[in-house]
Amino acid sequence: MEKRKIILDCDPGHDDAIAIMLAGKSSAIDLLGITVVAGNQTLDKTLNNALHVCQYLGLDVPVYKGCGQPMIREKQVIAPEIHGESGLDGPQFSALTKKAEQQHAVNYIIDTLLASDGDITLVPTGPMTNVAMAMRLCPDILPKIREIVLMGGSYQLGNMTPAAEFNILVDADAAHVVFTSGRKITMVGLDVTRKVLCLPSVVERMGQIDNKAAKLFVDLMTFFNKTQKEIFGWAGAPLHDPVTIASLLDPTLLTTKECFTQIDIRSEQSYGRTNCDLFNMLKQPPNSFVAVDINVARFWDIIEGGIKNYS
Ligand code: BDR
Ligand code: CA
Repeated sequence: MEKRKIILDCDPGHDDAIAIMLAGKSSAIDLLGITVVAGNQTLDKTLNNALHVCQYLGLDVPVYKGCGQPMIREKQVIAPEIHGESGLDGPQFSALTKKAEQQHAVNYIIDTLLASDGDITLVPTGPMTNVAMAMRLCPDILPKIREIVLMGGSYQLGNMTPAAEFNILVDADAAHVVFTSGRKITMVGLDVTRKVLCLPSVVERMGQIDNKAAKLFVDLMTFFNKTQKEIFGWAGAPLHDPVTIASLLDPTLLTTKECFTQIDIRSEQSYGRTNCDLFNMLKQPPNSFVAVDINVARFWDIIEGGIKNYS
């Protein structure tokens, strides 16, 4: 079977790190590059975290530094209350020797898509500044994008405001650019990621695997579970970002509904909300496949398989 080519655009971040882990050694995925954006922490920190995760796991994947600020908004929102001061608190890494590539992430996305046969899937698991900037800088890339499978949004409640999810809120203008791009979009939002709670029983299950990936998983999730419990009261943290990768590995994992989704970039109270017209009230052409359900048991099997791919 031909491997699915992807570019992972992320802001590690505990759950982003697990997404890297899952994609990094999969026999079904060709992780062409990792592009990094500011989000869970400042850009220097999310870049360092991506490099640390690759180095620790022995992944020979090029990592590119992207945008450190939203497209238009002045304010860079970060999430230290969830991901800690480093953006990846919990594990202890050895000194960093892996280096980021020289090329800017936005140029890398553009050049790689232009040179492709239209077979690359973009997987954004952070604010979509890099992807949107690439689309605006070089619209010729649009027909070259096979699909966009993103973690972000919610047709129900948000996690930063009652209306908005973090990745969309941080750069709602970028999200607007992506959702109006005309490319196929699968929106993996909180509606499904809040169903995959990394309960203590899951941490114990993965911890029984005897390899470095399992150790990283446990170290990451121990911290992530603590902050998620403090803020949201969950008994386990929602493992948001890896759902994107898992859905590529098993196309039956998610139940999706095709609909028109609009990003709220105008209002004060609901800024950053993904308005998903699941009942087709607006009679607009659909622009997204919104995930509405997930096979939870299958998801954890995929995570376990991903960890076991490491020695
Ligand atoms: C998203 O926000 C970030 O904190 C996580 O990494 C995830 O991408 C969930 O709202
Ligand atoms: Ca993320």
